[in-house]
Amino acid sequence: MANVIVIGAQWGDEGKGKITDLLSRSADVVVRYQGGVNAGHTIVVKGQTFKLHLIPSGILYPNTDCIIGCGTVIDPQILIAELDQLKELNISTDHLLISETAHVTMPYHRLIDQASEERRGSHKIGTTGRGIGPTYADKSERTGIRVLDLMDPDGLREQLEWTINYKNVILEKLYNLPPLDPQEVIEQYLGYAERLRPHVVDTSLKISDAIQRRRNILFEGAQGTLLDLDHGTYPYVTSSNPVAGGACVGTGVGPTMIDRVIGVSKAYTTRVGEGPFPTELDGELGELLCDRGAEFGTTTGRKRRCGWFDAVIGRYAVRINGMDCMALTKLDVLDELEEIKVCVAYDIDGQRSEHFPTSSRQFARCRPIYKTLPGWKVSTTHCRTLEDLPQAALDYLKFLAELMEVPIAIVSLGASRDQTIIVEDPIHGPKRALLHPDGTPATLLSA
Ligand code: IMP
Repeated sequence: MANVIVIGAQWGDEGKGKITDLLSRSADVVVRYQGGVNAGHTIVVKGQTFKLHLIPSGILYPNTDCIIGCGTVIDPQILIAELDQLKELNISTDHLLISETAHVTMPYHRLIDQASEERRGSHKIGTTGRGIGPTYADKSERTGIRVLDLMDPDGLREQLEWTINYKNVILEKLYNLPPLDPQEVIEQYLGYAERLRPHVVDTSLKISDAIQRRRNILFEGAQGTLLDLDHGTYPYVTSSNPVAGGACVGTGVGPTMIDRVIGVSKAYTTRVGEGPFPTELDGELGELLCDRGAEFGTTTGRKRRCGWFDAVIGRYAVRINGMDCMALTKLDVLDELEEIKVCVAYDIDGQRSEHFPTSSRQFARCRPIYKTLPGWKVSTTHCRTLEDLPQAALDYLKFLAELMEVPIAIVSLGASRDQTIIVEDPIHGPKRALLHPDGTPATLLSA
């Protein structure tokens, strides 16, 4: 399979879970490289539905090593609950490895996340309240607790006594919250440490070893390009780097080891949390997309904001991630529509722009310039090849591929594994970077 990164091309929730699951079948190792329990994917096993936030869905394949890399932040309580859930279903978790140098989310991170959001009032970010930002802030401030610190009881006692007393000043004086009891937290986390210890290793070494042995590695991004701390819609972003470049930093693998980048995008757009969203649909159409797409967050249950496909964002994601091909999900959600709009460019203060603006204030002033395409008004959920699709749906896909200059390799038309059209092999098909002599991309969607 080679070494492949799968990333979200929008604001997260693009359906990466299903695509990673499809690709995991041919992976020897699946690695998560950033984010924490703010992410979430739903898995159905033996008729039972459950939600994972940290453990990669590759865990369902007993011969696939699953790695939680150093760029992630780990909430041990939730991770252990996930391990317990899997155990109850008799799914082995022996092949789960956790990076020694990943940072740990502590109770004060969660409290500070929630209290600071409240304090921000109308300036709130709309975080998941899971302590993600404060955990990464401590990592940068160099006051973080790492997994390897958890593994050293004496060191942990010393470090946490100091840190909790320091954080208690913030909790009490800034947020009027009761202080945490250092001893209680220390005992709780020492308990977690013993449970996690068998899984903790130097994961960078493991991945390097797998690369040497030419095993197939799938790097799984959480959230999406527009939630990236550096390349997203700052400040309405998460605190890590979901873009493809983050996979190298968040796992300890050099960029020369990566063979492919696959982007995942919905056939329309959704966003959770605050921040501008030019193609957002209010009213009936927005509700229709939300209902048909079951657009409610896995982690917080929040209703997702819905809108038309934004090809400016799509082109930006192709560029920022060096995307080779795209998987387009939830095409079937558009089945009932009379007509479908696609944002082809923005009007910014009367000027047409094809580019995604770097300033959030400017982004808030972007007005979408739409091209309207006819809908197909028949169900596509049974389609398994491009030939099965109605002509209008095929035209829609071709239009998106041409606008973004990226081949669409996979089309998803429902939650189950078989509701998928594999247009071309996403791993071994031609790369976007390979151009025909006349300058056109080697493959766009081919009918
Ligand atoms: P945080 O990651 O909890 O700090 O939240 C920051 C922003 O990222 C908020 O707008 C969240 O709604 C958004 N966010 C975080 N994780 C996800 C996700 O998995 N899907 C979609 N949005 C997310």
